[in-house]
This record gives sequence, structure tokens and C-alpha cells, in this order.
Amino acid sequence: MAIEKVGVVGCGLMGSGIAQVCAQAGFPTVVREVNAQLVEKGLKSIEKNLARLVEKGTITEGAKSEIRGRLKGTTAIEELKNCDLIVEAIIEQLTAKRELFAALDGLCPAETIFASNTSSLTITEIATATKRPQRFVGLHFFNPVPVMKLVEVVRTIATNAAVYEEVVAFGTKLGKTAVRAHDSTGFIVNRLLVPYLLDAIRALEEGVGSIEDIDHSMKLGCGHPMGPLTLLDFVGLDTTYYISQIMFEEFKERRFAAPPLLKRMVLAGWNGRKAGKGFYDYADPGNPKAMKF
Ligand code: CAA
Repeated sequence: MAIEKVGVVGCGLMGSGIAQVCAQAGFPTVVREVNAQLVEKGLKSIEKNLARLVEKGTITEGAKSEIRGRLKGTTAIEELKNCDLIVEAIIEQLTAKRELFAALDGLCPAETIFASNTSSLTITEIATATKRPQRFVGLHFFNPVPVMKLVEVVRTIATNAAVYEEVVAFGTKLGKTAVRAHDSTGFIVNRLLVPYLLDAIRALEEGVGSIEDIDHSMKLGCGHPMGPLTLLDFVGLDTTYYISQIMFEEFKERRFAAPPLLKRMVLAGWNGRKAGKGFYDYADPGNPKAMKF
């Protein structure tokens, strides 16, 4: 069975990006949020991204209308029942994800493939909320989804091989490089990225360098698009803290343990760019200023 129609659950930062790239790749896409305001907010951000692509000459105004025509926002979960693949991008909480997939399992035909965009939870544990773990995969995108060229396609010990290959092919059709990963906590990227980000905080705690100098070092010394502390602000300190706790719980290794400074910044609500404050102050978003601790 080919994947022709896609459902996306959640139209926040990740869900809206996923819906956008699916529609851009030619897939009729239904995206569901819990209320009309959130549907509207998500679709507006897609609209803004598409308008930017028209401005830059990447797509024509006609192509933008076609992409927009392939996208449907809804609050009704029933509207997802004719989709061949449903990608979940809701809150990073096991119970919420399991409840959603149990409801979808009762609603969708047996052939529908389910995928979770979780970055840290165990796919196997989400899949067992359904009666179709063999048709369940991880499909982990990166922020900002329309820009980042990678998707991790995650198989569990129960995933059917043909289903898995179909989802890998789907990831490629989205214009992404689809890498294959096992259902190991953090998959490939966060397994390597999270210890690196946490080590940058440890380096700051130990006075190895200032915020700006740690960021400049990795940006200019290693050619990374952002330094680690800027990237932490971009990803969200709360998100990184949460992921590190799950990874530490799984592996019991110090490299995944949250440094005290990260915990305190999260407790203070300094969660990064979205909070206006993290390792940098974003009062003037175009010109962030390093915080003084
Ligand atoms: N949505 C759509 N397009 C966007 C965008 C967004 N939110 N943000 C930037 N862009 C586009 C811009 O329009 C621009 O496009 P063109 O080159 O065609 O003009 C391009 O991206 C570059 O943007 P800018 O020139 O404004 O800024 P930049 O060069 O600094 O790039 C960036 C911004 C793409 C975010 C870049 O800094 C970057 O790649 N940073 C690292 C991001 C990263 O590591 N993400 C992964 C995080 S980990 C994760 O997501 C997974 C997890 O589980 C935690």
C-alpha cells in the first residue's frame, strides 16, 4: 500500500513544519489541533513560511496556492481516518501520546501506518498502546523542519520490514535524507547531540570560557551553524532538560546527566528564545545579549 494521504496530529512548531513539508512534497495533508485557535495559529505560520519562499523566488504564487490547497486544518480526529500515514507531533508526554494512538487505533483501518515524532520517548512503549505495533515507526524531524534536511526513521523490534521501507521511501519523497535508526533512546542525533550540549554547559559552569567564547569556538572552530549555547536556547532548555532526564534514566551515564545550571535555569523559567531569556537575553531578538550569571 503506497502512502498517498498524510495526517499530522499537532500543529505547533514541529507539527506545522511536518504538515508543510508533506503538502510541499505533493501529499494531501490533514493537520489536527485541539482547538480552532491552535489550528489557525499553525496554518498561519505555514502561510508565512510559504510566503517567504515566494518572496525568495523558491516557489511561485501558483505553487503556493496548490500547496495550501493540499493542506486541511481540523479539530476533528475523525478527519484523520482516511489517511495512509499519521504522524504525531503533540506534547512530549508518554500518557498523552499513548491515549492519542489508542484513539486513532480504534478509528483508522488496519493498514494505516502510525508514526511518532518523539525525540526521546521509546517508540515501542507508544506503539503498544495500539493493536498494530508492526505498523508503527518513529519519524523524527528537526527544527526548523522545512530547512533541516534530515529525518530519522526508527524501527522497533516489532516493526514490519515492508512498512519500515515504505516510511523510509516516504521520508525521501519529502526531500529529506532518511537515516535508519533503532528504537534506542535519543536515536542517533540526540544520542550524540545531548551530551555535547550538556558538556557545553559544564564547560561554562567550570569557567572554561564565556557564553560568547564557547559559542564562537564551536561555530567558527568547527563550522557549526550555531554555537551550543545558542542552540540550547533555540531548542529550549526545558526540552533539553526533559530529554536529558529520559536519557539518563535509560543509560545511567554521566554524559546524559543534566548539569546543575541547566536545572536552575529551567526552574527559573529561562527556557531560551521562546521565553525571551536563556543563555542570551532576547529583549532585542535581532541582537541577543549574553546573560551574566
Ligand atoms: N522556518 C522556515 N525556514 C526558516 C526558518 C524557519 N523557522 N528559520 C530559518 N529559515 C530559513 C531562512 O528563510 C533561510 O532560507 P534561505 O537560505 O533560503 O534564505 C535559511 O533558513 C537560513 O536562515 P537565516 O539566514 O535566517 O539564519 P541562519 O543562516 O542562521 O539559519 C538555521 C538558521 C537554519 C536555524 C541555522 O542556524 C541552523 O541550522 N541551526 C541549527 C539548527 C539545528 O541544529 N536544529 C536541530 C535542533 S535539534 C532538534 O530539532 C531535535 C531534537 O530532538 C531536540
